[in-house]
Amino acid sequence: MTARRIADSSVEMTEILLPQHANALGTAFGGTIMSWIDICGAICAQRHCGRIAVTAYVDDLEFLAPIRVGDIVQLHARMNQAFGSSMEVEVEVKRERAGEAHLARCAVARLTFVNVGPDGRPAPVPALVLETDEARLRAKGADERRAQRLAHRKRAVD
Ligand SMILES: CC(C)(COP(=O)(O)OP(=O)(O)OC[C@H]1O[C@@H](n2cnc3c(N)ncnc32)[C@H](O)[C@@H]1OP(=O)(O)O)[C@@H](O)C(=O)NCCC(=O)NCCS
Repeated sequence: MTARRIADSSVEMTEILLPQHANALGTAFGGTIMSWIDICGAICAQRHCGRIAVTAYVDDLEFLAPIRVGDIVQLHARMNQAFGSSMEVEVEVKRERAGEAHLARCAVARLTFVNVGPDGRPAPVPALVLETDEARLRAKGADERRAQRLAHRKRAVD
């Protein structure tokens, strides 16, 4: 399998927050944003491995600033690291609001997706080419989080 670059799978997704996406305060319902994050991350993972990828784990999801009805929502997903059959993807959510000069960072999440083969079993994924110091740092963070997840999983089984 040929290693793939981060740019090969990065995703830009744009939505607009409509009334049906909002809570009683007129700001985004968290579940809507989580769903968009999952979709954006899954597209990224699937572009990397070239097959269906299922969500296995959401490491952390932080809501940093509110999104109001009428705001444009920009989601950006990028691969942090590829393991055996799993991949860590980071998704960042930004708000584009009329009258505001800058995009506001509203949420960030890291998710683990698993490549599923035709037999329904986890299948190997291509390696990720780490071309910059920033990419290497992100990958190192992903390695550490994976080690913690596996230790936690082992404890839960034991
Ligand atoms: C994810 C899934 C395919 C893994 O299957 P499995 O038989 O447990 O697979 P394995 O134990 O052989 O692990 C396969 C890979 O998944 C990773 N994995 C499995 N469970 C995981 C979890 N809870 N968190 C993070 N990674 C996980 C393993 O670390 C391994 O990665 P690696 O190959 O890179 O080392 C399976 O648990 C599944 O289908 N889960 C439901 C997925 C789903 O429906 N998602 C949508 C939810 S809304």
